[in-house]
This record gives sequence, structure tokens and C-alpha cells, in this order.
Amino acid sequence: MIDLPRTVKIIKKTVHNTDNVTIHLAASVRYSPGQFLMIWLPGVNEKPFSIAGHDADGPIITVRRRGGFSGRLVELKEGSLIGLRGPYGRPFTLIDNCCIVAGGIGLACLAPIADLYRDAPILYGEDRTSSRIYRERFPRASFYTTDGSAGKKGFPTDDLESVIRARGCDMVYCCGPEPMLVKAVKTCNSLGVGCQVSIERYMKCGTGICGQCACGPIRVCADGTVFDGDQLLENPDFGRRRLDASGAWQAV
Ligand SMILES: Cc1cc2nc3c(=O)[nH]c(=O)nc-3n(C[C@H](O)[C@H](O)[C@H](O)COP(=O)(O)OP(=O)(O)OC[C@H]3O[C@@H](n4cnc5c(N)ncnc54)[C@H](O)[C@@H]3O)c2cc1C
Ligand code: FES
Repeated sequence: MIDLPRTVKIIKKTVHNTDNVTIHLAASVRYSPGQFLMIWLPGVNEKPFSIAGHDADGPIITVRRRGGFSGRLVELKEGSLIGLRGPYGRPFTLIDNCCIVAGGIGLACLAPIADLYRDAPILYGEDRTSSRIYRERFPRASFYTTDGSAGKKGFPTDDLESVIRARGCDMVYCCGPEPMLVKAVKTCNSLGVGCQVSIERYMKCGTGICGQCACGPIRVCADGTVFDGDQLLENPDFGRRRLDASGAWQAV
């Protein structure tokens, strides 16, 4: 049976730039890093969002404007009401001597780990400077841009091997575009370092019922979203394909 959404209030909104906002919710939610919420906008849709941290009143989520749903969510004002189910998903197993690798809005999923382990290096990439989030929250992040407009030109995985060797990391936490995740998992695998990855698939129920989020033999929403890198390397769909909203396969 699917949980019913509860109505919660947006009590604060922080605007990072034109396309990214952090929304603070007044809700009692006990969560572990890596879990997500299903956010419902009545008459629009319901979609998954990572829990990006919390403050005294409840959880926070960071929303990037992409299509219709996220566009509406970004525009909501303080005081607006939204529906919320969750938290859902298998969280990260926490190991402190770690490194964080984030692509784009994937940093939101990893932010609670970065808050917990304040010495952990953060390798964070965006296509362009204007998309950057959490400048003040994580000034220690090494920043990469695909277009070279700020930080280092390239991808966060470019320096992963040298960071692992320099720091002797025991675990790498990753979230972001799947080609980046594949690269990170392979790098960790070749160095014999643990790697936990949060992956995304199109989700509808968010609780393991509908099968929409299938990735090979696993349901991402209920069996993950966090998986060991080695497990993903054996998965026939990881880095290759996903089901779209209509149930058709598309390349990742
Ligand atoms: C576990 C999980 C955590 C997420 N956390 C965040 C987050 O913290 N911040 C954030 O901005 N976004 C997050 N997303 C993505 C978010 O759920 C939406 O997919 C995104 O906002 C785009 O939706 P849209 O309707 O605005 O755009 P659309 O134009 O409809 O979709 C753009 C793309 O988003 C993906 N997408 C759309 N709907 C879904 C869905 N129901 N489930 C999964 N993917 C979908 C599809 O690949 C699509 O091509 C997360 C997704 C997952 C699966
Ligand atoms: S979204 Fe329905 S099973 Fe995962």
C-alpha cells in the first residue's frame, strides 16, 4: 500500500541562482543520508527529491529547474503548501575516511555526508558556472566545469584517482550523471577502494510497487537508490539504458 502524502509548509526558500533553489520544509522527518522524499504538487505530478539536509524545522531539498514539475517547484513561495511522502530508499553506509564525487544536482544527495565528514574532499562538477550550488555551504569543494568557465576545466572524476592515492580514502560516495558514475566506479574498482553510488531512474510509486525504476534485476527506489559500485558493474542496464515515463527504453 502506498503512503498518503501529508501536507507540509515551505517555511524558507534560498535562491542559489536562476535555476536552483533550496526549500526548507516544516515537517518531522527522520532520515539517513542518501534517502529521498516524494514531493506532490496537486494537479501537477509527484516526483522524487533527495533530502539535502535539515534545519531545526525539518528537511531541506534543493531543486534544479528542468521541466514542468521542477519549474513549478522552483517558483513556489514561502508559505506555500506541498504534499510529501517518505523518506524512502536504502541510505548510504557511513564511513568517515571518504571522498565525495558529485555531478550537477547530485551534490544535493551527497550534502548530508559532506556535512557529517567536514574533512572529506568534495569533487563537484557542473556544465557551467551559473549552475553552481552550495558555494557558502561547501567552500572546500574542488569545482570543475565542462565549459571551463570557472574552476578546473573537465570532470570531477578527472582527479579522483590522485585524490584517493593522496588521501588513502576508504570509501567514495558518488551521485550525478551516469557516465560519470561509471567512470568513478571503475576507478575505485581498479584501486580496490569501496564505492557507494546513488543512481536515478524515472520513479512513479517510489516504494517498489510499479517497476518503473527497474535497472536490470533491481528496483532503484526500494533496493537503492544507493548501491555498491561492484554490484552496479554487473548490472546490464547501469550506464546503458533506463525506462522513460511511458515505459519505453532510452539510453542513459
Ligand atoms: C532518487 C531521485 C532523487 C532526485 N533528487 C533530486 C534533487 O535533489 N533535486 C532535483 O532538482 N532533482 C532531483 N531528482 C530529479 C527530479 O525527481 C525530477 O526528475 C526533475 O526535477 C525533473 O522533473 P521535471 O518534471 O521538472 O522535468 P521533465 O522535463 O519532466 O524531466 C526531465 C528529466 O528528469 C527525469 N525525470 C522526470 N521525472 C522523473 C521522475 N518522476 N523520476 C525520476 N526522474 C524523472 C527524466 O530523466 C527526464 O528526462 C531526483 C530524481 C531521483 C530519481
Ligand atoms: S518507482 Fe515504482 S517500483 Fe520504483
